[in-house]
Amino acid sequence: MKIIRSIKVMQDYSGAEKKKGKKIGFVPTMGALHQGHLSLIKRAREENNSVVVSIFVNPAQFGPKEDFKKYPRDLQKDALLCKKNGVDVIFYPSAKAMYPPEYKTHVNVQDLSSVLCGKSRPGHFQGVATVVAKLFNIVGPTRAYFGQKDAQQATIINRMALDLNLPVKVRVLPTIREKDGLALSSRNLYLSQEERKEAVVLSEALKLARKLIRAGEKKSAAIIAAMRKLISSGRNAKIDYISIVDAKTLKPVPNISGKCLIALAVWIGKTRLIDNTYAS
Ligand code: PAJ
Repeated sequence: MKIIRSIKVMQDYSGAEKKKGKKIGFVPTMGALHQGHLSLIKRAREENNSVVVSIFVNPAQFGPKEDFKKYPRDLQKDALLCKKNGVDVIFYPSAKAMYPPEYKTHVNVQDLSSVLCGKSRPGHFQGVATVVAKLFNIVGPTRAYFGQKDAQQATIINRMALDLNLPVKVRVLPTIREKDGLALSSRNLYLSQEERKEAVVLSEALKLARKLIRAGEKKSAAIIAAMRKLISSGRNAKIDYISIVDAKTLKPVPNISGKCLIALAVWIGKTRLIDNTYAS
């Protein structure tokens, strides 16, 4: 397994692989790899000849008061996991190489970026779309793999790839969870023991929503109210948002019909966690 830091070397590697007719599977990450990331890597391994994982804590997608500085970083541990899971290349660029001082270009996927998490994290999805567009141009993947855990991100990347005619197939894979239902996330590392126990409330609220829908409830407001009540019973939980939106447009729907996304963000103490489920 190679660790490539240079953009030019990465581009040359991909160019040479593709000349040989090889398919490149790409998993963009910010590191602190867990089973969620590994599920994407495993699928990329199955479907392609060569697997590239990028590890880059992208400053452009963090707000000024967010956790860029304290975001967990451990290249040695990540490299070991990548090697064990058959990764061919880790692309590990520096922020200076990705965003030199003269940098000016940003990708903005309108409307989809300003709702849900985009409301509480202005600029976040512009940072995500920009870095992913750059990474696609550097890695030149045949297929790129994303998690449903970040459903809004996956929707935005899909839209961007279509709108900009990027020659890459975007695949979205299911959320991997702990036994008790908590979605795996690098940010779970921030939780105290007590907070970790309470964090299960996000997936419990989604379970409750699915149960109500199965029992015939169609009104989004009623479902959201029940979810709010459940989450508010916790000591450390503070709701950022709970929304039921159309899965494609991400616009709120008053009633469950067609494919909907139920998405929520909740502060557990000082840690903001997200989760979602599809319903119809
Ligand atoms: P990161 O949070 O490291 O996630 C990398 C990929 O892993 C994303 O596609 C994310 O949706 C997926 N993932 C995270 N937790 C998951 C889980 N529990 N189950 C399945 N997949 C999971 O998302 C980012 O990094 C960045 O925004 C990035 C796309 C790399 C751009 O900087």
